[in-house]
Amino acid sequence: MFKINDNYLKLPGSYLFSTIGKKVNAYAAAHPDKKIIRLGIGDVTQPLAPAIITALHGAVDEMSRAETFKGYAPDLGYEFLRNAVCENDYKARGCNISPDEIFISDGAKCDSGNIQEIFSVDNKIAVCDPVYPVYVDTNVMAGRTGTYDSVRETWSDVIYMPCVAENNFAPQIPAGEGKTPDLIYLCFPNNPTGSTITKSQLQEWVDYANRVGAVIIYDAAYEAYISEEDVPHSIYECEGARTCAIELHSFSKNAGFTGVRLGFTVIPRDLKCGDVSLHSLWARRHGTKYNGAPYIVQKAGEAVYSPEGKEQLKKQVAYYMNNAKYILEGLKNAGYAVSGGVNAPYIWLKAPDKMTSWEFFDYLLEKANVVGTPGSGFGPSGETYFRLTAFGSYENTVEAVERIKAL
Ligand code: MLT
Repeated sequence: MFKINDNYLKLPGSYLFSTIGKKVNAYAAAHPDKKIIRLGIGDVTQPLAPAIITALHGAVDEMSRAETFKGYAPDLGYEFLRNAVCENDYKARGCNISPDEIFISDGAKCDSGNIQEIFSVDNKIAVCDPVYPVYVDTNVMAGRTGTYDSVRETWSDVIYMPCVAENNFAPQIPAGEGKTPDLIYLCFPNNPTGSTITKSQLQEWVDYANRVGAVIIYDAAYEAYISEEDVPHSIYECEGARTCAIELHSFSKNAGFTGVRLGFTVIPRDLKCGDVSLHSLWARRHGTKYNGAPYIVQKAGEAVYSPEGKEQLKKQVAYYMNNAKYILEGLKNAGYAVSGGVNAPYIWLKAPDKMTSWEFFDYLLEKANVVGTPGSGFGPSGETYFRLTAFGSYENTVEAVERIKAL
């Protein structure tokens, strides 16, 4: 009789956003007259920028002619896109990354889940708490997290780094016996808290990782939302990051590609375990398991870096950040304890009246018909917190805030 990967059975419940989706759909089916405003999952609502649409049309037309038709994409992605990424996201910021260290993929979610495959199951992971659930869940699936404590809602072999109001939602470097991680997941600007760290704080992480021989998996999915000086856009702005850091990027949040699907992962050639370069392992995996993001989509990605694309996307990001400001100020004036929303499209708030995160979720859904994300879904330190996204339309954002204020 065959056997399954029973690590999957250890996973408690379903994926956070699937659970929320089911709850909201059940509520909507029972109350068809209610206008529900969804500020839960960080999914964008604005259409693709005109420069991207033009590139998509052009690429579709190319596919219709034998002379310009494209089959399988190159393993690492098309050079035109890797060059554009390299110039704009790295060289322009003084980061020493070359195009052949960039792996194009169909999104950062897959990469952030798959990257753990190239590491031993004996490695110990450290995560922020709260955290984007994909990092932990995929390590559970791989059998790297030990046993689950259903009361504390933690895994025995995971190092949790609490990010709470008291430490300004910034993780502390782990200390103490058995607390030295091999893999450190960091995401800044942060999902879900919307917090950031400064370049010197990030430099401390890089120095620490190099000192203890750990790898930082740095998720930069929200870097386009950085508005303040001294907040790094890439971990490679820090000295020494080439020997300890992998960086993940998404086109979902900066360019609205949640439904189009495109991302990339950077692995510097200097990042090694003994003589083995992680770049070569990921290249092997990429070549074996993946046939590349579609040409059409990679052309759309290239347009993100065109002068028109940049201009249009700057406006799109500003549109969402105006929503963030509206939520932040509206809820602050209504007496909520709120943070985030300045360098990130997420607003992190404390549930009122000692409600748990899920109690507040139900309360908002029922009384205001507004959907958010319960903080506890991101980890135990997220309990009593709640996340709202700025990715709605302006009209819905205003209405949601007014409804919450009226409660
Ligand atoms: C979120 O809501 O946390 C994000 O949309 C999830 C994702 O990007 O996959």
